[in-house]
Amino acid sequence: MDTVLITGGAGYVGSLLVGYLLDKGYQVVVLDKLCFGGESLVPVWGRKNLDFVRGDICSRDFIWKIFDRYPIDHLVHLAAIVGDPACAKQPELARKVNYDASIALLEMAAARKVKRFVFASTCSNYGKMSDPDGYIDESSPLAPVSLYAELKVQVERAILNGIDHRGDFCPVCLRFSTVYGISPRMRFDLTVNEFTKELALGRELSVFGRQFWRPYCHVQDFSRAIELALTSDADKIAFNVYNVGSTPENYQKSMIIEEIKKFIPDAKVRYIVKEEDPRDYRVSFEKIKSELGFRISKRVPDGIREIKKLIDDRMLRDPDDSRYRNI
Ligand SMILES: NC(=O)c1ccc[n+]([C@@H]2O[C@H](COP(=O)([O-])OP(=O)(O)OC[C@H]3O[C@@H](n4cnc5c(N)ncnc54)[C@H](O)[C@@H]3O)[C@@H](O)[C@H]2O)c1
Repeated sequence: MDTVLITGGAGYVGSLLVGYLLDKGYQVVVLDKLCFGGESLVPVWGRKNLDFVRGDICSRDFIWKIFDRYPIDHLVHLAAIVGDPACAKQPELARKVNYDASIALLEMAAARKVKRFVFASTCSNYGKMSDPDGYIDESSPLAPVSLYAELKVQVERAILNGIDHRGDFCPVCLRFSTVYGISPRMRFDLTVNEFTKELALGRELSVFGRQFWRPYCHVQDFSRAIELALTSDADKIAFNVYNVGSTPENYQKSMIIEEIKKFIPDAKVRYIVKEEDPRDYRVSFEKIKSELGFRISKRVPDGIREIKKLIDDRMLRDPDDSRYRNI
């Protein structure tokens, strides 16, 4: 079976993906600096097809050694400084990790004849939709409004236009929706997770700008989309970009609250008026559905139910612990 190198495999998305690909029979090599610890990989530790390497994607020498040591067929590149606040707080580090190291990995993967290079991008590349009644798709202009999204856009450009299109190299960009749901590396700095946690704990929640749209996708469905990128016809997906999510899963923030209220009817919410948000986008996911046959398996209410039960059953000693946030 093919060997997949996953950078950032101990993270929120990666730690679920690792188990998912192991279950599918892949050999998996995880490369991670463990910025948030390594507990997330304990559930898969000792699986015979798993190798873990602790290290930094910014070290070229180190990456070459990994290519020397393992027969890497595919590279799924998740490692990053993730989110607008984290990148704004450490802009130099963000440039180094999210741009410089990504480009180096891309070039090394091409040089080493890696077959697939899957890049984790984001729908926040779109910024604000120009037509408030319309849907943004992969051909719409990109208007990143944060360093985080700007760096994602720059890496996408290098992938789609900069790298030589010869040979069998098959890089693909997945523009993910905002993610939610439970993962071995839990995050509560994501809208659905954070709103549900706060309200399940009986706190009053302040919501800034109830009207702004975003698409949402369950973290388990990220794994399914990534596997599709590893298995779909290379002629179709090489040097291509796909939004990952589902068109009916676009929500305004107030709609998320209404869904949570179905589980927590006495939820206390205070809406704070915000007229402008540079990130306001409703996204079409018809391309990944029609070209690759992608269908989500979970919807936002499923995620709300999971998170509420996690909090109600006190599965986490301290859900407010800073390790559950990226900043
Ligand atoms: N969470 C979302 O809503 C979302 C949406 C769209 C795209 N993405 C993208 O998906 C990817 C994974 O996101 P996540 O939510 O799992 O983030 P995360 O912060 O939970 O995980 C990132 C992982 O990368 C590792 N890492 C960071 N810097 C590193 C370095 N220099 N060398 C090696 N490892 C390093 C961290 O230790 C961590 O385990 C990111 O590229 C992110 O931009 C996430």
